[in-house]
Amino acid sequence: MEIHQIFKNNRQWAANKLKRDPECFKKLSEGQHPAILYIGCCDSRVSAEELMGVAPGEVFVHRNIANMVPNTDLNVMSVINYAVRHLQVQHVVVCGHYYCGGVKAAMQQTDMGLLNPWLRNIRDVYRLHQDELNAIASEENRYKRLVELNVQEQCINVIKTAVIQKAYKERNVRVHGWVFDVRTGMLHDLQIDFDRILQHIMQIYRIS
Ligand code: CO
Repeated sequence: MEIHQIFKNNRQWAANKLKRDPECFKKLSEGQHPAILYIGCCDSRVSAEELMGVAPGEVFVHRNIANMVPNTDLNVMSVINYAVRHLQVQHVVVCGHYYCGGVKAAMQQTDMGLLNPWLRNIRDVYRLHQDELNAIASEENRYKRLVELNVQEQCINVIKTAVIQKAYKERNVRVHGWVFDVRTGMLHDLQIDFDRILQHIMQIYRIS
């Protein structure tokens, strides 16, 4: 992929959009009202908007390595606050994906330098679910399960924030855990039972 090709693609894309709706960019310039906050992985194969089939303006997107929600990360915390408090999104999605390099790296005993503290958050997920994971004989299935459990734990990290607890009470904001399968192109809802999780953890984490 050459950089100049990107600009050719962009001109073509904008022209096609205008052909369908001559006002589309003017409308976008007037503001955004996305209903969904999507927190996903940076992985180049997991293109958020494309896999969801959504148009510009429909989804507020945050991506980092392995779709993490560490409570000390000012970046993701700012995104959640802005999306929920100001944009008033109704849904917060954490979307992981099978074959995630970040999750794979966390399963290996290698020094990843600057990435160590970031990956340690995934190792913590492994430790929390060590018994379940160690009982899975196949390494590939264990890797897949860790991807799912990591999504679940990052959803719980979303729920630990005051802004979500407040929005949950006031306007029933929903949190969803999804996984995208790079091998099939399918998006799966993990159907995490948040009402049950909330009941279980709120005696510890309630702050709003
Ligand atoms: Co990934």
